[in-house]
Amino acid sequence: MQPEEYRTSPTLIVMPASNEDKSPGSIGVYDYLTKKYAYVSIANIYWLEYFAEKKSWPQVLSDHKTANPETLSYDIAKLTNLGFLVVGDGAEAKKYDRFSKEWKWDLSSALFHFTILDNEFESQDESTAIQLSKLDQDEQPALTWTNGLHAVALPSPFGGKNGDLLNLMAKRRTNRTNSGHELTNEELSSCLFAGLGITSYVETPTGDLPLSMTPSGGARNPFEAFVILNRGAELAPGVYHYSGAEHSLQKLESAVPQQLHQFLANQEWTKDMAAVIVLVAVLERTMWKYSDANAYRVVLIEAGHIAQNIMVAATNMGLCACPTAALAHGPLSEHLGLEALTHTPIYALTLEKPLPNTDKIYANPLLREGVGLLS
Ligand SMILES: Cc1cc2nc3c(=O)[nH]c(=O)nc-3n(C[C@H](O)[C@H](O)[C@H](O)COP(=O)(O)O)c2cc1C
Repeated sequence: MQPEEYRTSPTLIVMPASNEDKSPGSIGVYDYLTKKYAYVSIANIYWLEYFAEKKSWPQVLSDHKTANPETLSYDIAKLTNLGFLVVGDGAEAKKYDRFSKEWKWDLSSALFHFTILDNEFESQDESTAIQLSKLDQDEQPALTWTNGLHAVALPSPFGGKNGDLLNLMAKRRTNRTNSGHELTNEELSSCLFAGLGITSYVETPTGDLPLSMTPSGGARNPFEAFVILNRGAELAPGVYHYSGAEHSLQKLESAVPQQLHQFLANQEWTKDMAAVIVLVAVLERTMWKYSDANAYRVVLIEAGHIAQNIMVAATNMGLCACPTAALAHGPLSEHLGLEALTHTPIYALTLEKPLPNTDKIYANPLLREGVGLLS
């Protein structure tokens, strides 16, 4: 039998952090794929470099003839236990292999992408408390910039050719209430097509590219949508995949998770919504064309375009699509059957017919008379 080989995780970075618990002569090491962080002695950094190429134990001994094998074994076991050295071809090693093979962007995007998966979010009340205490020490930045008296006043956007369209867009509001509505297929059809329906293809030298109602960097169409349906007027509850190319829903699972809101960071208001549309990035579509990590930003921007169209379509039917980026990526991915490292839920929208909005909202006092809404 071949002796097992050790190698360094490909997703390590060394961070000279200066936390109080750091012992002298140690240095922070972070594995951004597994989010493991630990201090190791600076001498141990040698091993991380040494095992950049796979080595077996006999090879280690032969390369370090003057060293005490017990000390060697101790150091290596320590780094292995921390997850910084991978042994053999187990599940962890496979994950690292997949990362090396599949992640085509640079360290900066990978560090950001994997580090923010499955983060913890504070509750609404906690968030308000944190902000209130911040207000004591730190003035809030201005949330709008104004021009003043000498700026060119523009005519009302709510009159003229686009009056109706803008009036509709102005009605979009995040209303997190729930009336127990059963979503019709017409409602699902309209929201999903507005966001992700493929309307046409453009012929290019590199192949035909799908086009939709929302722009996509390089027409790479990196998003797929999954619908977790709680209440449908015609469709049975379950987990569905929406194909924008075929404009159809494929049922993947009949069970709707009891704790759907846990996938949405336990936000109370997301409990029992009629449906949740999950926007999943298929990163390799964009990676294939663009090697620059700025393309990662492009993918995130596209989620916003898609969501906005879904929200406007929902508004027009008296529904509300409430956006949330607070996701439990791991459990959600597992539930949707997403296995690839490059397939990630990025954004979600609940879909429901809301109750009248009780938020304290008032009209923008800076808008001149006559700029107000049509109705
Ligand atoms: C990218 C993004 C992420 C958001 N995530 C959340 C969220 O996790 N939870 C939530 O309650 N609202 C979320 N919202 C909704 C905002 O709170 C809401 O848009 C904002 O309060 C403005 O209200 P409006 O949508 O009615 O204009 C998110 C909005 C955006 C654009």
